[in-house]
Amino acid sequence: MSRPLPSVLDQALASAVRAPSPHNTQPWRFVLEHDVIEVRLDRERVLAVADPHAREARLACGAAAFNLQICLRANGFATVVRLLPDPAEPGLVAVLRLDGNQKSTAAERRLAEAVFRRHTNRRPLLDKEVPPAARAALKAAALHEGGQIEYLDASGRYTPVASLVRQAESLQETDHAFRAEAAFWTHRGPDSPDGVPKIASGPPPQGSGVVSLRASHENEDLPAREYEREPLLAAVLTRDRGPHAEVRAGMAMQRVLLTATADGLATSFLSQPFETPRTRASLERLFAGAGQPHTLLRIGYGYPARLTARRPVEEVLTQRTTAH
Ligand SMILES: Cc1cc2nc3c(=O)[nH]c(=O)nc-3n(C[C@H](O)[C@H](O)[C@H](O)COP(=O)(O)O)c2cc1C
Repeated sequence: MSRPLPSVLDQALASAVRAPSPHNTQPWRFVLEHDVIEVRLDRERVLAVADPHAREARLACGAAAFNLQICLRANGFATVVRLLPDPAEPGLVAVLRLDGNQKSTAAERRLAEAVFRRHTNRRPLLDKEVPPAARAALKAAALHEGGQIEYLDASGRYTPVASLVRQAESLQETDHAFRAEAAFWTHRGPDSPDGVPKIASGPPPQGSGVVSLRASHENEDLPAREYEREPLLAAVLTRDRGPHAEVRAGMAMQRVLLTATADGLATSFLSQPFETPRTRASLERLFAGAGQPHTLLRIGYGYPARLTARRPVEEVLTQRTTAH
């Protein structure tokens, strides 16, 4: 096997840190040793109130692992990926080993390129339907990574899930600890290397919609606007539950988000019902028999928003040298 150029590894790590994470906490670290890259959970960056069991942080680390993998594949390197390989080390989320050369496909190059355009779009979307072919492509993307997508308009779960989003949002709005944590991570300046900058927030909604985006992500400097009436909502599911399923779901979620970006679709998240115990239990009951729900995506057409910054790769990378 020819050795990857350092620039390919640089590019792969730059792709990894472009992954989405709750409040842009970037709860990851990377260790590079010879032809192995480890993705590790950074416990200090797990949201203590919204994500006490690091579930969302594992989704984010799974997304970072997917970005690493797709960038290496697009550059002609095959990889072997192991998720949570060591039960004694739950912080070791994924290990990627380079496994020879393999010609990249156009589809892989398209997704790798989308990594640097994908962003969370919290602005109003157009009332324009996502056509069946685009819906099918996102379903296929989730399946490719061992996950599933359920469109809530097709499954009959739209109304109860939208109601849980609104219920969780209002519980969080009156919870001091939630508000304090969200306030710490949001409304940052445009160059903040982490957290959600004000420029990435949407305008306050005019009237109440069927779903509510996070109030903590509203930009009060903008005039109120009407949001789309009924956005397409998709739940990312896996058959199993637990930490391994969460990392897998993160990888599936990321392939879905990149496929959406490549197809010109805007995406954002509605995580509130996963974060308060009562609504989370209701959500799991609602999906009983269908799979384990991990995240909820809002998908549609809109105008691109701004990319948010990341901490530099040097800050999250440890390089180990192997003694021979
Ligand atoms: C597991 C997870 C849950 C998220 N939940 C929300 C959410 O409920 N509301 C929201 O506006 N953004 C949510 N996000 C998006 C992050 O805030 C976003 O990824 C981060 O600020 C970085 O911005 P970017 O996605 O534009 O690169 C979530 C992201 C992840 C990975």
